[in-house]
Amino acid sequence: MTRYRIAWLPGDGIGNDVMEAARLVLDAMKLDAEYVHGDIGWEFWCREGDALPQRTVELLGKVDAALFGAITSKPVKAAEAELVPGLKGTGLVYRSPIVRMRQMFDLYVCLRPCKAYAGNPLNFKETIDLVVFRENTEGLYAGVEFAPVPERLRDTLKELSKPFAPFAGIPAEEYAITCKINTRKGSRRIIRAAFEYAVKHGYPKVTVIHKANVVRATEGLFLETAKEVAKEFPGVAMDDANVDAICMWLLKDPEKYGVLVATNLFGDIISDLCAQMVGGLGFGCSGNIGEKLAVFEPTHGSAPKYAGAYKVNPIATILAAKMMLEWLGEKAKAARLESAVAAVIAEGKVRTYDVGGSASTLDVAKAIAGRL
Ligand code: NAI
Ligand code: MG
Repeated sequence: MTRYRIAWLPGDGIGNDVMEAARLVLDAMKLDAEYVHGDIGWEFWCREGDALPQRTVELLGKVDAALFGAITSKPVKAAEAELVPGLKGTGLVYRSPIVRMRQMFDLYVCLRPCKAYAGNPLNFKETIDLVVFRENTEGLYAGVEFAPVPERLRDTLKELSKPFAPFAGIPAEEYAITCKINTRKGSRRIIRAAFEYAVKHGYPKVTVIHKANVVRATEGLFLETAKEVAKEFPGVAMDDANVDAICMWLLKDPEKYGVLVATNLFGDIISDLCAQMVGGLGFGCSGNIGEKLAVFEPTHGSAPKYAGAYKVNPIATILAAKMMLEWLGEKAKAARLESAVAAVIAEGKVRTYDVGGSASTLDVAKAIAGRL
């Protein structure tokens, strides 16, 4: 029996290239793990009508953690067009498997550390060390949407909401409604996770990002909850900022910030901003973390034009593997892996195209493995 069972989910396109690179590094570390392949992605949508087949869901229920490459997604109509003939017209609707995993396993924390490793020519500033906590299960991404808008909903909104009045006369097909739902429980647990991380990793402050002055109900609830949670952590300061303003402040003075926490959509946007400041898609890693399961991934997609070419940067995925080691409690191994990544970046000899080099995906992985 191995110590850990890890679901191995390469997915589509370059997901396969970068996962092969990550495996090379994990094997070099001799992690006592069994890696169990799981089917996920476009191929399974086209052939079976399900990009996240039930057998993969069952696998995820039985593992300690998962590492996930990337998937290809397409809009609903384009997806329907690629189904095998027997499945076309049967009412199947494409839904992103990553969003489904987050909801199914209640992976409520989306954790995205964005650190400027010394020597990375893509660093916006050398001192950046940001950690984004994005709420991953509710808010604007909860999926409660209406297009066209049902009459019953229209009538109820007309009765209950004054600001709805200008919309009440619009024909059902001429507008759409997406509900933003935030709960106290959902807010409390993501904010608490951010504070706990700050304590554990020695960050002096948590910055709560919101738009409570305009989106008063849900963002107000989030900010109010943050103020309550902050009282549980007297050793960590809390400040807050509007989401639009923080985009300016982060670009101006990123070194003044550390742990950031936000609701789903704002967290999604802020994460991309922060990732770009430390090298972009080749470096952006993330964890989708729940109580029982965590799925780690690079934040980039399947980049079909590079699929199988072993050209893309595997560092994002290797850093995701490092996050997985931390989550499993393998702190020493995680630290060793991070030092090896940092050393290869600092040395600057083995670089993929996005960092100005010509090394292959596996060259970078081998260089990192060689530094372990
Ligand atoms: P993408 O992230 O796949 O690629 C955009 C471009 O960024 C690539 O063409 C490449 O130039 C660069 N790039 C991406 N990863 C890189 C890496 N590791 N090293 C160096 N350069 C890299 O985004 P795109 O093209 O918008 O989407 C392609 C497919 O991926 C779509 O079907 C999309 O839905 C899906 N996607 C999946 C995600 C996921 O699996 N979590 C996230 C984002 C997109
Ligand atoms: Mg995103």
